[in-house]
Amino acid sequence: MSNISVLFVCLGNICRSPTAHAVFQALVEDSGLSEHIEVDSAGTGDWHIGHAPDQRTCAVAAEHGYDMSSLRARLVDADDFDQFDYILAMDHDNLANLKAICPADYAGSLGLMLDYTVAETFAEMDEVPDPYYGGDDGFSLVLELVEDACAGLLEHIRSRL
Ligand code: 4NP
Repeated sequence: MSNISVLFVCLGNICRSPTAHAVFQALVEDSGLSEHIEVDSAGTGDWHIGHAPDQRTCAVAAEHGYDMSSLRARLVDADDFDQFDYILAMDHDNLANLKAICPADYAGSLGLMLDYTVAETFAEMDEVPDPYYGGDDGFSLVLELVEDACAGLLEHIRSRL
């Protein structure tokens, strides 16, 4: 079986991408695929390097059974394009920032997280909205969108393993 690596990217790496990191990691473990799929997350902004995920993010994740306590924010860098087969941005701004540093010969898949959405309800959405300056609903929506897209992503990757 081949190995696949996935990097989720948002702005601060304290809300959306660590949520995707924790949710996808749990899905991979539950599917018995931990030895074959590597998961990580990073941010395009440097304000929160070394910080744990946002408390509001952790609270919503914990309500749904995900433990994010071991995650720490880091900055995405050019080496990530050597390491990861999939680099998935949470929104168009972050995707544009990634495209700006993506080597011309990158052979992996650089795209949006919500390219893997499954649920009809979310079919019209292409970005995971930034919840940082909003209310609690935003954090719940992040979790719902991410859980759905992670399921779609795992099915897609399974077909490649
Ligand atoms: P994230 O959310 O990109 O989902 O981690 C944000 C976290 C922090 C900031 C913006 C968005 N900030 O401006 O500090």
